Amino acid sequence: MLSQAEKHNASRTDLAFQRCINPACGATFDTHSIRTSCDRCGDLLDIAYEWDRLAVPKRLSDFEAMWSQRTNPIRFSGVWRFHELLPFAPQDKIVTVGEGQTLLQQADAVGDYVGVNAGNLHLQYEGMNPSGSFKDNGMCAAFTHARMMEAKRAACASTGNTSASLALYCSATRLMKAVIFIGSGRISYGKLSQALDYGALTVQIAGDFDDAMLRVQQVAKRLGIYLVNSVNPFRLEGQKTVMYRVLEALRWEVPDWIVVPGGNLGNSSAFGKAFMELKAHGLIDRVPRLAVINAAGADTAYELFERRGVRWNGGHIEMDPIRDYNDRMDREGLKADTIASAIEINRPVNLKKCLRALEVMDGVVRQVDDQEILDAKAKVGAGGFGCEPASAASVAGAKLLRREGVIAPSDRVVCILTGHELKDPNATVAYHTTDQDLFNQVLGSRGVRKASFANRAIAVPNELDDIIKAIELYS
Ligand code: F0G
Repeated sequence: MLSQAEKHNASRTDLAFQRCINPACGATFDTHSIRTSCDRCGDLLDIAYEWDRLAVPKRLSDFEAMWSQRTNPIRFSGVWRFHELLPFAPQDKIVTVGEGQTLLQQADAVGDYVGVNAGNLHLQYEGMNPSGSFKDNGMCAAFTHARMMEAKRAACASTGNTSASLALYCSATRLMKAVIFIGSGRISYGKLSQALDYGALTVQIAGDFDDAMLRVQQVAKRLGIYLVNSVNPFRLEGQKTVMYRVLEALRWEVPDWIVVPGGNLGNSSAFGKAFMELKAHGLIDRVPRLAVINAAGADTAYELFERRGVRWNGGHIEMDPIRDYNDRMDREGLKADTIASAIEINRPVNLKKCLRALEVMDGVVRQVDDQEILDAKAKVGAGGFGCEPASAASVAGAKLLRREGVIAPSDRVVCILTGHELKDPNATVAYHTTDQDLFNQVLGSRGVRKASFANRAIAVPNELDDIIKAIELYS
């Protein structure tokens, strides 16, 4: 039996390893190697731990003590203050830029819109991270591993937020050079501006995100560049902490529902692993349900899980429906298409892990169209903290599930708002505009017909009396 001190001193890296998620394979690899798939069977990898040789706090509330150590950057971080629950790196290798200082807000007006009782709807604002999205939770973890591996360059394909986050970590720490792959045309200016401003080598390929994702994996392998997309299992370890902070903000009470937008399905996968582990440690006694919300124009998870009945099934996933659907997308040249550009993804790399999360968390998948997304986004924005379109899919999804009776009015619901409002101001301005041409160009072309919750600017002549009259009339 190791003493508490011995446990703490044992090298963390010895007690963590990479493990294939396929239970029929279960191959393991040490953490001092860079992998995005299993050498033996090609499946995704998890980070696993020898928990019985590690010091895990006895109660979740023990983490509150970390607040008192805020002058230590590792404890200031909203990710690394939970280091004991992702103990793959020694302290001296940890990278942090102060990520994870995010908020959970009770939002009654949004709750009213969704249809749950007052006090029951909470919004988790991950857009408050340094680069403006939840990605920083995972990036600091992947970056820490890259540092352990002494990587000099790091790459990702991105719809914009991963690349902004990678570019920020590279420029703020000066530990690595960022190489980012983006598709042509789709990335919002807020996100592109970050990558350019922070000095990332930006490769815009003639294709969409799914094409860029395929290419970056080939290039990373060929050139030995460290890949930080969510196929990187270390990244998802960092993203588990979003759930720890949600529980912390709810005074360690488990909500009934976690609702999250689904793109590459990294978040949902990480959340499932977080709850699997918390349950196994005896730190919680029940697991919330999970709702993964696709945009209707990028609905692979919905199609496979809800329409074709594909399940994790203890790791024995029936692959034929997945292959059939991929073949169909190839044959018909189906491309993802939604105003929620962050989740405009048809080939989610974490599909299998997400299926596992859906099993562990008794989950559901839904799709919402661009109209529903933008209306929900306006409702969130009217509450004073905004979000980008993809994030609002969670609120639109919660509303749909409430309408279906899957979510009850008395359920406690947490919607994850993944990205900051200022990431994509075009969508917001086009929704609220009085300029019909702008509306049609940005939104009408995507099937959005009306802006029911628009807050329109009033046009007045440059005359004091007219201005005063207008203000008296409208305020
Ligand atoms: N919300 C936002 C704001 C995102 O940027 C993303 C993904 C998602 C949701 C989907 O999350 O992949 O974990 O299901 N953005 C990636 C990127 C793909 O490149 O920035 P997921």
